Amino acid sequence: MLRRSTNALARATAHATYGARRTVVTAKLPDLEYDFGALEPVINAEIMELHHQKHHNTYVTNFNAAQEKYAEAEAKGDYSTMIAMQPAIKFNGGGHVNHSMFWKCLTAPKDFAMPEGELLKMIERDFGSLDAMQDKFTTATVAVQGSGWGWLGYNKATGKLAVTTTANQDPCVTTGLTPLLGVDVWEHAYYLQYKNLRPDYVKNIWKIINWKYVGDNLKNAM
Ligand SMILES: [Fe+2]
Repeated sequence: MLRRSTNALARATAHATYGARRTVVTAKLPDLEYDFGALEPVINAEIMELHHQKHHNTYVTNFNAAQEKYAEAEAKGDYSTMIAMQPAIKFNGGGHVNHSMFWKCLTAPKDFAMPEGELLKMIERDFGSLDAMQDKFTTATVAVQGSGWGWLGYNKATGKLAVTTTANQDPCVTTGLTPLLGVDVWEHAYYLQYKNLRPDYVKNIWKIINWKYVGDNLKNAM
């Protein structure tokens, strides 16, 4: 009897302490660093406004709701609910992380500048040329079945760059690569302008890549 009471008390104390220590950080929709129409003619203003204000915002809202539920379950030691919440956290949290990066990967055509320095050297070393990397990225990304993302990432174990893709809203880190550049190929990213022509969207997006941001990501990853 005494042992049972002690165990119950220990469990209650553990939950209370764990619950008190857990801090849920609320995700926020980041502002874009350019106007909705700034990426035209590659991506039109209507797509950008809907994509940022509706789609990304929904991931943020649902991620915060899922985190809240998870924290409540965690405070109660409700492991079944904690496990059940994980797909929603991965999907909506991934959607928030991926889109937050995607906006920064893009720049107005008037501000476009080619990659240079260490980034360009490593692209040429690992793919042969910038064109070869872009071809490989475009081919892999156009071929994503259904919805997903194309990525240029850095492999910390090998010190090399690599192209990969993920399904749905899975973040690049789930492949083992640190993301440097991500391209959204969900239909909401291009359909209003390109209809079914995903290859045209991905080929055109090279005209608005913010290579300075991609290069900074590489410096931070190395
Ligand atoms: Fe998207």
